[in-house]
Amino acid sequence: MSVAVSFERFSFRYDGAESDALRDIDLQVHEGELVVLTGESGCGKTTLTRAMNGLIPLVYQGTMRGRVAIDDKPVAEWTTSDLAATVGSVFQNPRSQFVNSDVEAELAFGCENQGLPRATIAERVHESVRTFGIGHLLHSRVEELSGGQRQMVVLASVYATHPDVFVLDEPTAALDVPSMELLGQALARLKAMGKTVIVSEHRLWWLSDLADRVVVMRDGAIAGSWSAADFGALPWETRSGWGLRAWRVEEMDARASSPTSCEKVSATSVGDRRGEGRVALETRGLCVSYRHRRRVIGDCDLTIPAGTAIGLVGANGTGKTMLARCLCGIQREAAGTVELAGTALRPSRRAGSIYLVMQEPGYQLFEHTVARELEEAQRRGFDRDAPKAFSMESLMEDFGLAELAQRHPLSLSGGQGQRVSIAAGLLYGARALVMDEPTSGLDYRNMAVIARQVGRLKRHGLPICVITHDYEFLCSVCDAVVSLDGGRPSTPIPLNPETLGRIRRLLGFSSVH
Ligand SMILES: Nc1ncnc2c1ncn2[C@@H]1O[C@H](COP(=O)(O)OP(=O)(O)O)[C@@H](O)[C@H]1O
Ligand SMILES: [Mg+2]
Repeated sequence: MSVAVSFERFSFRYDGAESDALRDIDLQVHEGELVVLTGESGCGKTTLTRAMNGLIPLVYQGTMRGRVAIDDKPVAEWTTSDLAATVGSVFQNPRSQFVNSDVEAELAFGCENQGLPRATIAERVHESVRTFGIGHLLHSRVEELSGGQRQMVVLASVYATHPDVFVLDEPTAALDVPSMELLGQALARLKAMGKTVIVSEHRLWWLSDLADRVVVMRDGAIAGSWSAADFGALPWETRSGWGLRAWRVEEMDARASSPTSCEKVSATSVGDRRGEGRVALETRGLCVSYRHRRRVIGDCDLTIPAGTAIGLVGANGTGKTMLARCLCGIQREAAGTVELAGTALRPSRRAGSIYLVMQEPGYQLFEHTVARELEEAQRRGFDRDAPKAFSMESLMEDFGLAELAQRHPLSLSGGQGQRVSIAAGLLYGARALVMDEPTSGLDYRNMAVIARQVGRLKRHGLPICVITHDYEFLCSVCDAVVSLDGGRPSTPIPLNPETLGRIRRLLGFSSVH
């Protein structure tokens, strides 16, 4: 079988960087192979994909050594347009890839760029729509699409240009479980057509039945390469020791009963552990409307006992984020109450005491350094006279922030940003936390660090609400799961080995797992 992508002793250093982002890469991807590229954040996955699709050196300049070739022709010898027609790319954030505002135009865009005749473009778009089953989206506007639908449109528009090689860089970072499964089916189709597919990923379970080979990177080098079967046969402890996430769904299940990774406590024992501050977060008859019209959340009664974490799950668009915003006082309720330790609080009193850790913490960090961010949080604290449960020093240490103190918050990775954001919330005086999708784009190590911190906060008696599609994280920290369906929460399902099947179904896993 011929080689589609080949690296020979390839190294790359970004201009201005102090060390190589890629070191002596030797890798051959054969035609028709599906290769998963994984490894901790910063190990060089994205850089390797940039070397394949020509973004290095077109967009990212630096010093290269060795050889990278597509179809045995060095990337440097390809014209930009020929390379773009041969290697199609799908990036992490589908929002950043859209040029047009409607789906049909977006699907045609790549082909138009190649200067194809109109009739050919129309045919290609038609074929692509059929291949990926996205006919129902054709006349939508891009901004109306969910994350998963956007990613499918991006893949379809790349497919329409008929590349031989598909390079996907963390395509599921923003996706829920059903969207991940759909993407998996789309990749299966590409594979059946004989296309070469390279996927860089942290979350691996959706690829375990698709992958031919798994390549693990570490510090810019290839640490190992296995057939999918051999990789799956490596002990799970070995793989998580390397900072990798679960390969099979059952391995995620196991987190729910593993005492080392999960910091769970039984909800009933919570009250005794900490006499003071037995804070529970509760809503009674809570209704939230969208722009004074449509009622998104109706009659919501939800109790999160002190020292427990509830996972809030549900399909996109059911109002999870809206509920989170209302709990935290960013969005006003139309009716009902939000109570903390038995006291109903108006939105302005909730802001800060019920603290929202956002999906992209960059939006809530404003200072020039991490240290300033934390000092400011403490200074602005909503209840300045109250004794603080957490000191700056202890949080810096617990959250591993000391070495980041002088960094600019926007230069932090996702996991680091989440940690700063939680610490700032606690210094501000948070007595309950609401986390919106904190971990889907994080590698195992960062996910585990957040899980440990959540465990610690539970021991301090904080009630925590975690909105998540990340089953592995859910199993690691949550005591119970509530699904929000049509704007109303279900009865909480305690999370234990017997309930995992039900919880997986709530998250949208198909029954094949
Ligand atoms: N545009 C860039 N300029 C300078 N350094 C970069 C750039 N992009 C990534 N790096 C650095 O290259 C290394 C590999 O990063 P990356 O390829 O993004 O890893 P991954 O995708 O595995 O998280 C990291 O040390 C990162 O900080
Ligand atoms: Mg990356």
